[in-house]
Amino acid sequence: MSVFVVDGGRVLSGKVRLQGSKNSSLPILAATLLCRGECVLHNCPRLSDVEASLKILRYIGCTAQREENTVIVDTDNVTRCEIPTELMHRMRSSIIFLGAMIARFDRVRMSFPGGCELGPRPIDLHLNALREMGVEISEDHGELDCCVQDVLHGANIVLPLPSVGATENIMIAAATAKGATIISNAAREPEIVDLADFLNSCGAQIHGAGESTIFIDGVDRLSPTTHAMIPDRIVAATLMSAAAVTGSDILMTGVVPSHLESVFPVFRDSGCEIEYDGEGVRISAPYRLQSPKLIRTMPYPGFPTDAQAPVMSMAAVADGMTVFVENMFLSRYSHVSELCRFGADIRVEGKVAVVDGVKRLLSANVRAQDLRGAAALVVAALCARGQSEISGIEYLERGYEELELVLSSLGADVKKI
Ligand code: EPZ
Repeated sequence: MSVFVVDGGRVLSGKVRLQGSKNSSLPILAATLLCRGECVLHNCPRLSDVEASLKILRYIGCTAQREENTVIVDTDNVTRCEIPTELMHRMRSSIIFLGAMIARFDRVRMSFPGGCELGPRPIDLHLNALREMGVEISEDHGELDCCVQDVLHGANIVLPLPSVGATENIMIAAATAKGATIISNAAREPEIVDLADFLNSCGAQIHGAGESTIFIDGVDRLSPTTHAMIPDRIVAATLMSAAAVTGSDILMTGVVPSHLESVFPVFRDSGCEIEYDGEGVRISAPYRLQSPKLIRTMPYPGFPTDAQAPVMSMAAVADGMTVFVENMFLSRYSHVSELCRFGADIRVEGKVAVVDGVKRLLSANVRAQDLRGAAALVVAALCARGQSEISGIEYLERGYEELELVLSSLGADVKKI
């Protein structure tokens, strides 16, 4: 079990290149199953969640090689149409393989993805949509058994809520289904656009990705392609929080500013200066942060739920009170109790967290309990003077590529032991 040891209170400086997006890599790796032959994926971050996806692809019979940040997947010799239980439970987002495996094999067997630290993670929207596309799905004893009755065909699907995963599963299944599919109330995240760009470069006919209505004309087959993942906007928000709480001035390259349009105002309201030019996004923090007052998490382009935890660490040391409203997940405040061990003043009432900014945080030994909560604890430890220890770093490594090296390159004292 890895542990971070952080000697906080240091000002950061310098330039850092942003990693590729985890939440683009996972659906695109699954979507390679629609192509026969070799796909080359650049800017694919080295993360445990990505490794879990490569394990699933290899289990199915693909070859999946990594060369630095490029992954090459060859799906020619796939043999299995099931996902082993231990892999499904290791990474709940393996549900993103559902649409791809049905499209490739016309059937798939996988265990129901477990819930996770964020609370129950239902997949009813995924299953209802696939049923409308001609998939018969039986669920018994925690196992999902899916089989295309006659032919996988397009459908008009209205999502009750803009689910990212459901939008991705439908897009992937519809790309080579018979006929047209329309997804109304689709998720609009940049990762949805990246997946559509990948599929279209394989020959798919997808229009409107990034908007609330997506049109997909099924084609007979897709051909392998080369694709580079978009940068990870949540890692960018995390590094910005780290810069803000340490009074730093850093430059992040490889950022797409438009992906952070609902995040920049929060940092500007806190007194940070944010500029961007061709090279990247520069954030310079004030000596004393002001509280951003109110943060509501919403589907894209609203404030991202994944940035709530790291930004709460910033609010914890900002002057004044910040109210967080977590609208996306039932329990996404596991980091609050640990932030309070650093001396933060935070009260949670249901989906609302009230943060009363304190002058400074004190070093503490804490334990991460989920991916973005782990990031929040690292940000807090960078701010607190003295040595802090953070255990549960395996959660962090699901989504952050060598964060200790990234932070050390900016002058932080972070060691992984
Ligand atoms: C994706 O999860 C991301 N994961 C999450 O990031 C992110 O927090 C989430 O989208 C919201 O932006 C990946 O992309 C791999 P949803 P996903 O379906 O697809 C409910 C991280 O930290 N819902 O948009 O699972 C669900 O319970 C991770 O990188 C249903 O009720 O999110 C949740 O309350 C964490 N039924 C809400 O919708 C369903 O069938 C949004 O979920 C599906 C979802």
